[in-house]
Amino acid sequence: MYKGLKISLVAAMSDNRVIGRGSTIPWRAKGDLRFFKEQTENRPVIMGRKTFESLKNAGVQPLPGRPNLVVTTRADYCFDHPDVSIHHSMDDALHHAAKLAAELDTDTVCIGGGAEIYKLSLPVADIIHLTEIHCMIEDGDTFFPDFSHDEWQETRREYRKAENGDTADYSFVTWQRA
Ligand SMILES: NC(=O)c1ccc[n+]([C@@H]2O[C@H](COP(=O)([O-])OP(=O)(O)OC[C@H]3O[C@@H](n4cnc5c(N)ncnc54)[C@H](OP(=O)(O)O)[C@@H]3O)[C@@H](O)[C@H]2O)c1
Repeated sequence: MYKGLKISLVAAMSDNRVIGRGSTIPWRAKGDLRFFKEQTENRPVIMGRKTFESLKNAGVQPLPGRPNLVVTTRADYCFDHPDVSIHHSMDDALHHAAKLAAELDTDTVCIGGGAEIYKLSLPVADIIHLTEIHCMIEDGDTFFPDFSHDEWQETRREYRKAENGDTADYSFVTWQRA
């Protein structure tokens, strides 16, 4: 659909598929934050308006060193920053991301969440980097969407022990479209 462009979902979920609670991420896993940075730096990152706003809580709004493409239905939504653009459909965001990717000399566009945007982009995604955080979050309110294991193949799984200050062990898992 987007010729020559790789669409890469980058997410982390608990063992019961939670990705968020009250507009925050309910665990601490420093290695996963480093992984997210490595995957997304110098690449366009598409995210939903709610995820973009949640970055404020983490003190990183917008994500530095990469274009932030924010998807919203709100016609009057604006954010005045050279690295931020606002889009009113996934299609528009993907087209703009393709242009930015060419300017940045990368073939990859990242999808940075949250659940609504992961769900919208799964049908066009080529790769899913889904870190499994080994904990159960009983009061989570946002979940990674189900995807068919007939259509996706696990190609990498690497276990990491929690570092000092982390709240759980985790595994880096990569899925490629089968
Ligand atoms: N663990 C992880 O890897 C991870 C990653 C990212 C986010 N999160 C968490 O996920 C949660 C947020 O996820 P979420 O699913 O609630 O929200 P989201 O996907 O970040 O954003 C949803 C918003 O996107 C816009 N939108 C959705 N579909 C659209 C469409 N077809 N056209 C135009 N705009 C559209 C709407 O914005 P308007 O309402 O403005 O119209 C909608 O409210 C937070 O808790 C966050 O911390 C976790």
